[in-house]
Amino acid sequence: MKAPIRVSVTGAAGNIGYSLLWNVASGNCFGADQPIILQLLEITPALEKLKGTIMELQDSAFPLVHDIIGTDDADKAFGDADAVFLVGSRPRTKDMNRSDLFVANGPIFVGQGKSIGASARSTVRVITVGNPCNTNCLIARANAKNLPNSAFSAMTRLDQNRAVAQVAGKLGVPPGAVQDVFIWGNHSDTMCPDLQLATANGERVAGRLDQDWVRGEFRQTVATRGKAIIVARGSSSAASAAAAAVDHMRDWWQGTNGRVVSMAIPSEGWYGVPEGLVYSFPVRVDAAGRIQVVEGLEIDDYIRAGIDENIAALEDEKSNITNLL
Ligand code: NAD
Ligand code: LMR
Repeated sequence: MKAPIRVSVTGAAGNIGYSLLWNVASGNCFGADQPIILQLLEITPALEKLKGTIMELQDSAFPLVHDIIGTDDADKAFGDADAVFLVGSRPRTKDMNRSDLFVANGPIFVGQGKSIGASARSTVRVITVGNPCNTNCLIARANAKNLPNSAFSAMTRLDQNRAVAQVAGKLGVPPGAVQDVFIWGNHSDTMCPDLQLATANGERVAGRLDQDWVRGEFRQTVATRGKAIIVARGSSSAASAAAAAVDHMRDWWQGTNGRVVSMAIPSEGWYGVPEGLVYSFPVRVDAAGRIQVVEGLEIDDYIRAGIDENIAALEDEKSNITNLL
């Protein structure tokens, strides 16, 4: 039996938390043979609700869950953490853009970044889900001064999964047949899905899809899906976001076995993206958990414009939060 790993989840009593915790506890994320200790962080007024979530987790009797800690103390929640899901933060409502959440959410990632730096393991892997997630990740990264860039990521996997679903629907194949779809840039309406590597049942999809659809309805649907769900549901995506967070962390933990996926990570200058911006790239993850950006792709004028539009959007977001870095 492996030794348990410590998995921190912030905002654990919220909507995403309610789905994420069951996915993680069942073994879907870290493996069916990997015991875990759940370290759940909430704000003080939500501790009673968290207590209810913990009671339900206990009642699910997951064999892999060796302990569950619920707390409003960030240092305790991130103590010796091996993996961290930064979810806790406000969701937008239908009349907002994600970047309108800076004022409410940005400061959360200052304190939590510091605390992760002080308390988590030096090998910790952090996924940022709370919006605007690329820039919140930038804030957390900047405040965890002792940790490397490679510890931090933000989630564009939900956008990737949405793109896969659209392509699968168009081609009349199950989503599992579609691989190597990825997203450039920011988890915002500017995001740029790219199908140049994508295959369905092993065959390239590029020549099989109408370019007007790819550049028009497809991109628009993927980029604005979050808002469409808020309008339809009355609250933001939760189960699909939790599933995507698990996909992202599972691939980071277990490797992608050659598949290409999307992760937003601090740039090292790849594809002209300024160093340090947390930007979604096509990546592979090796068996040791190293994230490797797919380099050398041919970038046509359309994708170049998409990459540049997202650089501008993220530079603009950054200019609003320099006091938090
Ligand atoms: P929610 O309101 O249901 O839950 C958020 C939880 O976070 C609440 O329980 C709240 O008490 C807690 N919280 C607030 N501040 C906290 C803090 N400082 N420390 C710890 N916990 C804190 O919201 P939700 O639906 O779970 O969404 C959470 C976030 O995820 C939102 O910002 C949302 O926009 C974002 N989101 C991102 C994606 C993505 O693809 N990146 C997808 C869906 C949602
Ligand atoms: C999503 O994409 O569903 C989330 O980021 C929620 C939102 O505000 O759109």
